[in-house]
Amino acid sequence: MKLHRLLLPSLYSPPILTLFLVLVLLLSPSPTSSAPGDAASFLREACQRASRGDPNLTYGFCLSSLAPGSEQASSIHDLVLVSIDHAVSNTTKIRSRIKTLLKGGVFAKDPYVEACLKDCLELYSGAKLDLQWAVRFLKEKDYGSANVELSAVMDASVTCEDGFGEREGKVSPLTAENRVFFQLSSICLALVTMLP
Ligand SMILES: *[C@@H]1O[C@H](CO)[C@@H](O)[C@H](O)[C@H]1NC(C)=O
Ligand SMILES: *[C@@H]1O[C@H](CO)[C@@H](O)[C@H](O)[C@H]1NC(C)=O
Repeated sequence: MKLHRLLLPSLYSPPILTLFLVLVLLLSPSPTSSAPGDAASFLREACQRASRGDPNLTYGFCLSSLAPGSEQASSIHDLVLVSIDHAVSNTTKIRSRIKTLLKGGVFAKDPYVEACLKDCLELYSGAKLDLQWAVRFLKEKDYGSANVELSAVMDASVTCEDGFGEREGKVSPLTAENRVFFQLSSICLALVTMLP
């Protein structure tokens, strides 16, 4: 009671009242704030299904890599496009990483590793083109052809990594990048196989 009496007068003074109303408006759920929640649960379900059907893909990686960018996604088709987007931007990052390694001259005295790096650069350029083709096929709802493109994309990281391993004593400087890209492309492929 005492508290009530203390609060009431100050609550009705205009600045406090305004602040109070602003807070109420900020804290009350608006109709649009339910959409991200729906997208989030849609993403969780999709990642559960995708990782269950694909031994190369973990649920956690699927969720954490697709969360940014999928806020508006409401179908598997949307999610595939988001996953392809992530993979495309990763090819760009990996290619610039490879170029930096080549320019740095660290491998200039190691022609084998240098040649492998150049192969990887081509593989990732090809992967980027394949991803762009996959987008075109998806827009035409030609899911079979999109699947073929995305399978080829997945091979890029494996072929790149294997190149270094074919010569004894050689260590791949791209193991981390190849691993991430393998997972990113696994997501694309797992999702595309969920399309009708
Ligand atoms: C998992 O990865 C292996 C190795 O690259 C590949 O041969 C296989 O097809 C992949 N599985 C699926 C379901 O994509
Ligand atoms: C993309 O590629 C870089 C390597 O160049 C890697 O470090 C990074 O974690 C990747 N990130 C995502 C989410 O694409």
